[in-house]
Amino acid sequence: MPTHAAEVRSPDDRIAFAVELDADGRVSYHVSFDDEKLIAASRLGLRFKDHVSIESSLKTVGTEHRSSDSVWEQPWGERRLIRDHYNELLVEFESVEGPERRFALRARVHNDGLGFRYEVPEQANYRGVDIVDELTEFRVQVDAVAYWIPGRGWNRYEYLYRTTPVEDLSLAHTPVTMRTQSGTHISIHEAALVDYAAYTLDQRRPGVLQTNLAPRSDGVRVKTKTPFITPWRTIQISPNAVGLLNSSLILNLNDPNVLGDVSWVEPGKYIGIWWAMHIGKRTWGSGEKHGATTAEAKRYIDFAAEHGFDGVLVESWNTGWDGDWFNNGAIFSFTEPYPDFDLQAVANYAREKGVRLIGHHETSGHISNYEAQMADAYDLYESLGVRQIKTGYVADGGQMQRVDAQGVMHYEWHDSQIGVNHYQHVLEEAAKRKISINTHEPVKDTGLRRTYPNWVSREGARGQEYNANWALPNPPEHNVLLAYTRLLGGPMDFTPGIFDLTHQGPGSEFRVQSTLMHQLALYVVLYSPIQMAADLPENYAKHREAFQFIVDVPTDWEKSAAVAGEVGDYVVFARKERGGEDWYLGAISDEESRSLSVPLSFLDASSTYIATIYRDGDDADWGANPYGFVIETREFDRNQTLELKLAAGGGTAIRFRPRPEAGQ
Ligand code: NOJ
Ligand code: CA
Repeated sequence: MPTHAAEVRSPDDRIAFAVELDADGRVSYHVSFDDEKLIAASRLGLRFKDHVSIESSLKTVGTEHRSSDSVWEQPWGERRLIRDHYNELLVEFESVEGPERRFALRARVHNDGLGFRYEVPEQANYRGVDIVDELTEFRVQVDAVAYWIPGRGWNRYEYLYRTTPVEDLSLAHTPVTMRTQSGTHISIHEAALVDYAAYTLDQRRPGVLQTNLAPRSDGVRVKTKTPFITPWRTIQISPNAVGLLNSSLILNLNDPNVLGDVSWVEPGKYIGIWWAMHIGKRTWGSGEKHGATTAEAKRYIDFAAEHGFDGVLVESWNTGWDGDWFNNGAIFSFTEPYPDFDLQAVANYAREKGVRLIGHHETSGHISNYEAQMADAYDLYESLGVRQIKTGYVADGGQMQRVDAQGVMHYEWHDSQIGVNHYQHVLEEAAKRKISINTHEPVKDTGLRRTYPNWVSREGARGQEYNANWALPNPPEHNVLLAYTRLLGGPMDFTPGIFDLTHQGPGSEFRVQSTLMHQLALYVVLYSPIQMAADLPENYAKHREAFQFIVDVPTDWEKSAAVAGEVGDYVVFARKERGGEDWYLGAISDEESRSLSVPLSFLDASSTYIATIYRDGDDADWGANPYGFVIETREFDRNQTLELKLAAGGGTAIRFRPRPEAGQ
């Protein structure tokens, strides 16, 4: 019979996390929500290369309970104030036989889910340790529906989501979101991934999902020494789908800002020399079609200045893109511009126009080439007034290149401890120069933006780029699924706002599978403090009235709330701008058209609002009529209900402005 070691419940009493020991001194935990057993008894433990594992012959030597309820402020974010309210349990274990070993399990249970982590104190037998396996399991209900992407694949996180019974999940990246038969929604992920390997979930037996840490090239999962703590293993829990979207658990489990004053981290909107390369109009490599020319950059800067954009991204400005850039990471220079791009002149021109040049560093996954040039590259950008760099790590999974001190090449996973530490090194070096980072081909987001607020955004999923002409496009449900999976980890640089939806001409399968209004709604639905208007300036001119929404929409919010939705079907977000009184709403649908009634109770009570509504027309459809739309103005207050009609692949975007009082 297992011995009950300890239990801790959420402040609202609905979630229970319990720890048990069996007759062999093995530790397990289980989780319930109201009367539902969400996680059945699941093992815990760590295995090492040269040390006795910490998994059995253990006894408890102490338990501590603690509670905390505080509010903290984000420098930027989807909401300014976040409540961090939890009950905490710390259970300390010690070996009963074999070499002496000790560890503690810390669990924090919030109303929106829980996190637990291993804390391994300094101890004589375990100075330096190589972790070869983490035994943490999540025994979930086999008949729950899971929404997931495969882990450890060549395409990193850039896969379409699968919707399957849990029993069909193999190796999956987190967040893995699930809906149980009773309608409870959970999402398994991790928080505060620092100096450790990310894990994928491996289904070892039906319903038994085990953490599988990404290995280093020598096979070891994590090289560390005592004392060490692991990232938090997290389970977000909600009685409905939107509850997951309103959870702040991942941020709450991260450490506070370590950078001090971060007023130099600037949310905002940008355009860039980018989509033209993806759709084949321009090239990254030099030559006649070279994207990054001085003249082209100035054209974008003019457009940005005219429409109030904060930044202009320029990709392909530096030498190294010629030939097979995917496989030539060693030859990129991060300081030498191509001859047809006058870096200094472009940066100056931007500054004069009140726009900032956004830097770009594609590494093709060669982290040693990048690290060798990093100080010079960041100094250069700092001297030019650049405040943000988009980085890229295009390399197959497991093929990040690292050259050691002996000149030997090692091939690493993006989400290994090596990768994790590289991305953190980038943040720290960039922060010294007041530069923010937007990582493409990153490691998954575990909420480190709280600790390093200069990590403004990242990719880490299939973004808009898949709707260009080099891949089959994302199906309409993909953007909806992103909200309930990838975005639970944190902001995504999806790059919305493609207006020329059939950019390869009518009839081509290479196109965007959405209506124009869906593209607008994405600015509200898929949160990021930096948002791109991804299309070419000339395409915005063709729909100037619809473009106004992109001009108006903010990227930094006082409040955010998901107000309706079901995983993979649709999602509706309402957000209030920071430093202003306007509310915005974004709603998107999958391949089905649908009608929704949305209560407007999120609006402030003190105002009546004038709403500018950008909606699909009655006969709109992503395939047959993506440009069927209506822009109309109506008045609302918070006692009313909004009737939305979303087309197949459609969306609605709304700006609510308080109506000025008479006489104002
Ligand atoms: C991959 C990024 O996701 C994409 O946005 C970029 O254009 C290419 N790498 C080139 O750096
Ligand atoms: Ca990418």
